[in-house]
Formats: sequence, C-alpha cells, structure tokens
Amino acid sequence: MQFKHKIAGGDFAKAGNIASSVKKILRQLNIDHAVSKRIVIALYEGEVNVVAHAYSGIVDVDIDEEKIKITITDKGPGIADIEQAMEEGYSTATPQVREMGFGAGLGLSNMKKNSDSMNISSVPAEGTIVELITYIKPDAR
Ligand SMILES: Nc1ncnc2c1ncn2[C@@H]1O[C@H](COP(=O)(O)OP(=O)(O)O)[C@@H](O)[C@H]1O
Ligand SMILES: [Mg+2]
Repeated sequence: MQFKHKIAGGDFAKAGNIASSVKKILRQLNIDHAVSKRIVIALYEGEVNVVAHAYSGIVDVDIDEEKIKITITDKGPGIADIEQAMEEGYSTATPQVREMGFGAGLGLSNMKKNSDSMNISSVPAEGTIVELITYIKPDAR
C-alpha cells in the first residue's frame, strides 16, 4: 500500500493532517497501538519540520506486511550540520514559529526515538530527505 501527500511550507493550520490520516489507516489495518503511536509521532514531527523550516515537501508512505517506510522529501534550506540539528534543544525556529508553540528543538530526536531506523540526507540550499522505517510486527525488528 503506497500513497503520497504534499506539504506546503508555512501552513501550520494543516500541520499534522498527514499524520492524522496515516493514524486512521494504521487503525484500519489493525496495527498494534503502541507501534502506530510511534509512527504517528515521528511522522507528525517530520511534517511540522517541513512546515516550519522548508518551502514545500512530499511525504511518501509505503506499508507492507513487515514495515512502514515514510520518506519526507522537501525543498528548503537543508540542514548543514545534521549532528547539531539532532541535539535536543537545538532549534533555528523563528520567534513567530515559537509563539505558535513550535521550535522546542525536540522534533528530530523524537523522530529517532520513535522509529526503528531514521536516515537524514540533506543538501544545503536545496532540501532534505528524511527516511523513517518502523517494523509493524514487534518481533520482526
Ligand atoms: N526539514 C528541515 N529543513 C531544514 N532544516 C530543518 C529541517 N528539519 C529540521 N531542521 C533543522 O533542525 C533543527 C532541529 O529540528 P527539531 O529537532 O525538529 O527542532 P525544531 O523543529 O523544534 O526547531 C531545526 O531548528 C532546523 O534548524
Ligand atoms: Mg521540529
């Protein structure tokens, strides 16, 4: 099962919509609640990052028997120092973004904690690709 969603940078009103729709699908597929919760948290944070930090993005979701693979590809400023971006509390969010309650600097670390594998590749001034894989059956890990 595969699908694709678009994200518009700056559109905070819609941030989280893709995570919500994936949550519904995982529920329909009877995926274990604890597992689906992790997937939805990681996707939510990835979605918010595109809205907060990039210009536009595409989320590809690929679910098979064994795992869910989420690929978030954006056009944006990219991440020059991925290790630094991963640090808890590190954030370049603008004051306006912080006023809306985002920008705590915990998104990427939460995505890592809530997925079985996370891979980030980024080209400064072009964009970022974040790939998240989570195994659906806990014993398949
Ligand atoms: N998709 C992205 N494009 C560009 N920069 C990003 C992206 N995602 C994260 N970053 C950078 O990594 C930092 C840390 O991200 P995160 O841990 O989610 O914290 P926050 O979003 O609260 O700032 C961001 O402040 C930003 O500098
Ligand atoms: Mg974030």
